[in-house]
Amino acid sequence: MSAPLLTRTGTGTVAATKQHRPAFFNPDTLPWLPWVMPGTFFKLLNINPINGGFSMMLKVEPDNWAPVHGHLGQVEGWLLEGGFGYGEDRGRTGYYVLESGGIRHEPDTDKDGMVMFAIAHGPLCGYNDDGSIAGIVDARAMYDLAVAGGAADHLTKPLDW
Ligand SMILES: [Fe+2]
Repeated sequence: MSAPLLTRTGTGTVAATKQHRPAFFNPDTLPWLPWVMPGTFFKLLNINPINGGFSMMLKVEPDNWAPVHGHLGQVEGWLLEGGFGYGEDRGRTGYYVLESGGIRHEPDTDKDGMVMFAIAHGPLCGYNDDGSIAGIVDARAMYDLAVAGGAADHLTKPLDW
């Protein structure tokens, strides 16, 4: 077995970066706010003005069938409670989920609903019945929702906004 690539020698010349903001945040300090689909709630944890994505806690009620929506970027998630899926393809607590960028889907939750941590690497969108875009949910929209719900004080508003 080879030695670890990175080790603490005690003689290095590279100093750790001084922290200017806490790295940790307790999501329990935020309320669950209604999200953009019926029966869904969110806590916004981070916004990415570079790709329009965001990181959040998502809670969905039991037996919820989401409307068809599109993802303009990948979404990665970690299921913390309950479960959900897309037809036969399903995950439970402790599962990692990857939703590919460019897909459209209509996930449904299990009988106990679900809570997950998710990173959206880009916006998502909803559709009107005629196929036109009904709305875009990007980092700015998420930030505005969190501000309206009094749950954005922990976020740094980008200068250009
Ligand atoms: Fe989705």
